[in-house]
Amino acid sequence: MARTFFVGGNWKMNGSIQTSKDLVANLNKAQLDPNTEVVIAPPALHLLLVKDLVESSQVKISAQNAYHKASGAFTGEISVSQLKDAQVPWVIIGHSERRTLFGEADSNVAEKTKAALAESLSVILCVGETLEEREKNETVSVVVRQLDAVAAEVNDWSKIVVAYEPVWAIGTGKVATAEQAQEVHAAIRKWATEKLGSQVAEALRIIYGGSVAAKNCKELAGQPDIDGFLVGGASLKPEFVDIINARL
Ligand code: G3H
Repeated sequence: MARTFFVGGNWKMNGSIQTSKDLVANLNKAQLDPNTEVVIAPPALHLLLVKDLVESSQVKISAQNAYHKASGAFTGEISVSQLKDAQVPWVIIGHSERRTLFGEADSNVAEKTKAALAESLSVILCVGETLEEREKNETVSVVVRQLDAVAAEVNDWSKIVVAYEPVWAIGTGKVATAEQAQEVHAAIRKWATEKLGSQVAEALRIIYGGSVAAKNCKELAGQPDIDGFLVGGASLKPEFVDIINARL
């Protein structure tokens, strides 16, 4: 069965109320490939506003992070239960900026993923190696370590999209070549086949993130194991629509 192409837009900590409104207005008036699933992740403060403004049922919203506890004295955090209550159906977990800047370990990523799935949220699970790890030929072992940590806590992968995001390609303009990305995506699918079974592996969406732009998305989208993108900087620009339409 063909996997539905998936394009996520991670707005990170960017923009104002007005720019969020403008980005949604741009999506509302665009012609989107009806065969692409689109998920946008505005800053937490703008989630409900964006949710109310989105007109197409094809476009869903996502949080950029969540805390695994349901409630309590965790100042500054938003829980997976609160996302569910607010009808935010997706959450990004384990983004490299959370791992490197905010000290999230594989075990934190695993417990957050488990908690999100327990609240019936869908998860964009991010993995990827640093430049140093790539240069030491550790790319696949790092990604497998990150995935194994989640697999130790989670059995059902049907609501997970895996985002492979090499840290050295994020926000740098240095996109992985289609061959480099395909190689790692194929390794992730091989891991999934061995760990989760061939049916789960065949259905699992593995998307690429790291300097995706209108000019490089088509070649990447043509790779057999690249099922879409997680887009940062370009999701704040009109070219996000071209990336959604990469397979047209
Ligand atoms: O979540 C998105 C990724 O971090 C990619 O960001 O497209 O700005 O490189 P970027």
